[in-house]
Amino acid sequence: MIPVCRLEDLPAGESVRLDTTPPVAVFNADGALYAVDDTCSHQDASLSEGWLEGCLVECPLHAASFDLRTGEPTCLPARRPVRTHRVSVVDGTIHVHLTDPTVTPVPASAPLTAAASLSAPASLAASGSSAGRAPMTGEGSAA
Ligand code: FES
Repeated sequence: MIPVCRLEDLPAGESVRLDTTPPVAVFNADGALYAVDDTCSHQDASLSEGWLEGCLVECPLHAASFDLRTGEPTCLPARRPVRTHRVSVVDGTIHVHLTDPTVTPVPASAPLTAAASLSAPASLAASGSSAGRAPMTGEGSAA
């Protein structure tokens, strides 16, 4: 479980990149938190720098789109999915639970790289915990 940032520091429509190996991108999609591998499966672009529309992120390099709920591409040129990771919020801090144990967490002192994206802002409705593939609904629950 890797701490990401305070929930209030990742507003709706924004993303943050974790410098794990490989990197992981965490998104707040209209109040739902998702984490996927940051590197596009097509080439070497950072999805955390892409455009967020609902639960889809568009790659900034060639515009492939990925569903953050499943990691599956929704259009070409990407053909392979990106891995998804579970997200939780504990005491107001977002955490990522890496799907693949070969992903290496960085030391806690390493800085995060934030990347703003674009969808319409939405207010955060909860400060409890939630599952990564489900909208945040409150402590210990998932919708
Ligand atoms: S690098 Fe993402 S679509 Fe090409």
